[in-house]
Amino acid sequence: MTPAEARATFPVLERCAYLNAGSVGPLSRRTFEAMRSAETLALERGRAGASVWEGAAAMEARLRASIAALIAVSAEQVLLTSSTTEGCNLVVTGLRLGPGDEVVTTNAEHPGLLMPLLASGATVKQARVMERPPGEALAAILEEVTPQTRLIALSHVLWLNGQVLPLAEIKQATRLPLLVDGAQSVGAIPVDASVADWYTVSGQKWLCGPETTGALYVKDHAGLRPQIQSYAASARKDASRLGLVHLGSNALAGLLAAVEDVPGWGFERAAALVRHCREALLAAGAELRTAEGQGTLISFRVPGDPEQVVKGAEAAGIVIRHLPDGWLRASVGWWNDEADVARLVDHLRVAL
Ligand SMILES: Cc1ncc(COP(=O)(O)O)c(C=O)c1O
Repeated sequence: MTPAEARATFPVLERCAYLNAGSVGPLSRRTFEAMRSAETLALERGRAGASVWEGAAAMEARLRASIAALIAVSAEQVLLTSSTTEGCNLVVTGLRLGPGDEVVTTNAEHPGLLMPLLASGATVKQARVMERPPGEALAAILEEVTPQTRLIALSHVLWLNGQVLPLAEIKQATRLPLLVDGAQSVGAIPVDASVADWYTVSGQKWLCGPETTGALYVKDHAGLRPQIQSYAASARKDASRLGLVHLGSNALAGLLAAVEDVPGWGFERAAALVRHCREALLAAGAELRTAEGQGTLISFRVPGDPEQVVKGAEAAGIVIRHLPDGWLRASVGWWNDEADVARLVDHLRVAL
């Protein structure tokens, strides 16, 4: 499929410049149809029964294999979840951290990771990566590591500014257990999750899958002592024994269609569009806090109340978001095009 053909599978793009996959990605017609067919089957054939379960098991196996291939790990090391937040909670609770333990994270983490860390009872040390250039992230993280550090837990791509953290270097320099929040990376940039011990996937964002879907890569499932378990713990022998939720057939079918539709040219196309968007925003006079060559999120500021800027943009057919610290964020994916970028920049130019 060409970029134009792929773009045409997302009806929302016919009416607006949808630039918010960092929250929830656009839905393609094929993903929607896969979800609908599964629902129709459930309606007409019933939601349980031997043939239904066999079909669901086959679909789950295919989905785990597709996600595993996308993040360069093996299917037995991937379990399905409802979200990145669930994946983070499974790992943090399974490590049984407590007082006396230290966890190193950054000062740019989403609550989906930060709140489980804070709830663990461990001392949470936040490396100050937001105030320093991307090249100093490793040093900022290493400054927080002590002999008490039991876990490094951080995002691959920071949700506040799109910065990519150097996972392989962090692992190599510390040799400590590494939990990675992949909410803003999987489906957006190439990922090799095997550098981490645990790596989360959000299905609804850059993979354009159904909401409340996700996955978790677990290098060694015997290394966790789960505090919350489900039927899977009694029936499974690989990483999927850690799974808590049973994804319905509509969620399985939708996420499978979405993952299988990620085009081979997607990452390169997204990177080129991000570069273009960044340059266009700078040329228009916006203030940016996203360095060159990072992920697919661009964080910027223009005069005016951010909430009102987002509402004004939506009224003009442009979907972006404002962040809790007052900055704006545009998410640029392989499904976007130069016209989406022009629509955003032309709209903002009025305020600049
Ligand atoms: C970095 C990061 N982590 C976690 C999340 C939460 O993702 P999920 O809804 O899949 O738990 C988000 C979503 O905005 C995010 O940006």
